[in-house]
Amino acid sequence: MKLIGIAAFLAGAPVVVLAFLAAMGWASLWPALAGIVVCVATSGAFALVWGRDLDLLTDAVRRVASNDLNPRGTAESPVLMEALGREVSRISRRLAIRTALQEQHRRADTLILERLPDPVLVLARDRAIRRTNAAARSAFGDDTAAVLRHPAVRGAIDKAITTKLSQTAEISLPAPVQRDIYATIVPMDPPLADGGEVLVVLSDRTRERVIEHMRADFVANVSHELRTPLASLIGFVETLRGPAADDPPAQQRFLEIMAEQGARMNRLIDDLLSLSRIELTEHQVPSDPLDLKRLLERMVAGYEPRLKDRKVELALRIGDDLPILTGDADQMAQVLQNLLDNGLKYGRDGGVLTLTAAEAIPGKVWPNRRGVVVSVTDQGAGIPREHLPRLTERFYRVDKGRSRAVGGTGLGLAIVKHIVNRHRGQLLIESEEGKGTTVSVWLPVVQS
Ligand SMILES: Nc1ncnc2c1ncn2[C@@H]1O[C@H](COP(=O)(O)OP(=O)(O)OP(=O)(O)O)[C@@H](O)[C@H]1O
Ligand SMILES: [Mg+2]
Repeated sequence: MKLIGIAAFLAGAPVVVLAFLAAMGWASLWPALAGIVVCVATSGAFALVWGRDLDLLTDAVRRVASNDLNPRGTAESPVLMEALGREVSRISRRLAIRTALQEQHRRADTLILERLPDPVLVLARDRAIRRTNAAARSAFGDDTAAVLRHPAVRGAIDKAITTKLSQTAEISLPAPVQRDIYATIVPMDPPLADGGEVLVVLSDRTRERVIEHMRADFVANVSHELRTPLASLIGFVETLRGPAADDPPAQQRFLEIMAEQGARMNRLIDDLLSLSRIELTEHQVPSDPLDLKRLLERMVAGYEPRLKDRKVELALRIGDDLPILTGDADQMAQVLQNLLDNGLKYGRDGGVLTLTAAEAIPGKVWPNRRGVVVSVTDQGAGIPREHLPRLTERFYRVDKGRSRAVGGTGLGLAIVKHIVNRHRGQLLIESEEGKGTTVSVWLPVVQS
């Protein structure tokens, strides 16, 4: 139809004029007829070419409009409208490049967001979640909605949208475990490619809060531990100057207690210094060879008098072919001393204290590598289960009174834990109430 229209439009006027001339006799019939045939034929041919060109161009423009920028169909190109055809292809090519670039940017945006170590949520204007990154999914999972529902966060999001300024909110999530979250709300103007208008960046501050508490607790604990013996020293000094000034036997008694309290303060300070020294070097794994068998034998010899005092029998089970370890001999001696001290202090008088050292069986309780386990087992009252996870905290004691009475500072197992950590080992405390306690230390055998 379109072709007939074009042909009729082109040939119409000359054909009518020629027919009119021939009809009026102003032109001879045959030349006029020949003229008409030529007109119809040329305009038909022209209409064919033009029509095809128009189809090609319309198709190309339509493809640009519908974003189908595949350079397909370039084999055919317009004949009469060649320049226009070239321009359309150029526009199409440019658009294709720009679209590819945009897509690349969008993908980069998504990837950056996805890989950010902090949990990030992307919200639409209506507060619906558009996207969450991997960190958010792993840290919050189903709790994401609870974070967004929190009144403080909701308020901050509203404010960020209306003021177009970043806002912050601090919240505490009670379940499943108490978590302190710091939320930063960033309004996006212009919006992100996916329509996101608000970024909610969450950071878990629980650890910092716990450390803050621990530091405050630590100072309070140290002050308290020092104040008790100090108060007693000051009290006795007053007594010696006043009421006991002329009572030599009482003076002797009081001086003895004062010496004990002084020694207690000294021990506490020694333990604190030792703990901070170990903490400072905890990242450096010791590299000196350590002959555990010799160390154990040397240590045990020093315990003879105390064992006799308490009528405790020491059962030694030291394997003959213990491998040579790498470790700090002084620090390992400190570990063993703490464990043996605890075994003696909290074990049963007249009972058996067992010291075992052997190659560990890899895999079940201990790591899947070669290692040695040293353990001290006593037959004391044991430790209630709920205390076990906290025993390595500084100043943590199950029975404060008993520990103080036997001269404990409550730092022994904290020191043990740090030394074991420094040796990249593991500490395990097992206890059964009424039966006794076993404290085991696993140390890796480093193949040279
Ligand atoms: N073998 C054990 N049996 C029963 N309770 C134990 C045993 N070992 C440790 N405990 C408990 O764990 C607490 C912490 O032990 P830790 O060795 O850290 O401190 P401590 O023995 O009180 O003081 P320190 O070791 O500094 O002299 C002890 O106070 C005690 O209540
Ligand atoms: Mg101890």
